[in-house]
Amino acid sequence: MINLENISYKYESEYALENLEFKAKEGEKIVLLGNNGSGKSTLLKILAGLIFPSSGKYFYKENLVDKSFVKKRVKEFRKDVAILFQDPDTLLFNATVYEEVAFGIKQLGLDVDVKEIAKRFEIEHLLDKNPLKLSGGEKQKVAFCAIFATNPTLLLLDEPTANLDPKTTGWFIDFLYNLDVTTIISTHNLSLAYELGNRAIVIDESHSIIYDGDIKALFQNEQILLKANLMHKHKHKHSDVFHSHFHIHDWS
Ligand SMILES: Nc1ncnc2c1ncn2[C@@H]1O[C@H](COP(=O)(O)OP(=O)(O)OP(=O)(O)O)[C@@H](O)[C@H]1O
Ligand SMILES: [Mg+2]
Repeated sequence: MINLENISYKYESEYALENLEFKAKEGEKIVLLGNNGSGKSTLLKILAGLIFPSSGKYFYKENLVDKSFVKKRVKEFRKDVAILFQDPDTLLFNATVYEEVAFGIKQLGLDVDVKEIAKRFEIEHLLDKNPLKLSGGEKQKVAFCAIFATNPTLLLLDEPTANLDPKTTGWFIDFLYNLDVTTIISTHNLSLAYELGNRAIVIDESHSIIYDGDIKALFQNEQILLKANLMHKHKHKHSDVFHSHFHIHDWS
C-alpha cells in the first residue's frame, strides 16, 4: 500500500528527513516514534500528499505520489488518505461542529449521517457549538470525527492523544483497536505506543530511521531507545533521596 524509496525532505536548507525507506501493507498499525524535531510530522505530511519529497519516491497503491498525481486524483486521494494534524485548530474552520463534520462528507458527496457518526465519537452534545471555542481535547475529538467521517483507507494521526484526558485516551485506544483501517500514528508516549500498534518506526535526531520492527522488541532495545531520546538519565527524588537512573519517557 505504501512504498517509500529513499526519500529526503528539506525545509529551505535544513534536512527534516534523510533517506527514509519502508513499506507498509494494508491493515498495518504503525507507531511513529522520535523526539521533538526528528521529522514525524513532516513524514505524515508527505504520506498525506501535502508536501512532496525533495528526493526519492513515495508510492501509494502503486501510484507515484507527486504534485501532478495529487492534482489529477485529488478527490479520490483525499478521500482515501486522511490526516489529523498535531494542532487540531489547523483543521477546524466551520461555524459549528455539525458543519465541521458534514464538510468532508458533502465535498466528497458521501451518504453519511452526521448525527450517527457524532454519536460514535461521543460528541453529539457539541454539534451546535463553535469548534474553535471547545477545549483542546474536544477539538481533537471533533477533528478526528471530521476526518474519519469520510471513511478513509489510510489514517495518519499526528500525536492524536496529546490533549486527551485518561478516560478519552482509553476510549481512543479502544476505538482504534476495533478499527480495520491502516493507521500510522505518531507519539512520544511509549506506554501508549504499545497500545496503538504492533510495528514501530523510530526516527532519531539525524532525521533517519534507526528502528523498524516489532514494538515489543523495541522496548527491550535500550540502545535504540537511548539513541532516539525516548529514554534518558535524569535526577529525581525517591522518598527524599536523590539519585539517577534510566527512564522511559511516557509522561508527555
Ligand atoms: N515549516 C517549516 N519550516 C522550516 N523548518 C521546519 C518547518 N516545519 C518543521 N521544520 C523543521 O523540520 C524538522 C522536523 O520537524 P517535524 O515537525 O517534522 O518534527 P516532529 O518529529 O514532528 O517534532 P514534534 O515531536 O515536536 O512534533 C525540525 O528540525 C523542524 O524545525
Ligand atoms: Mg510533530
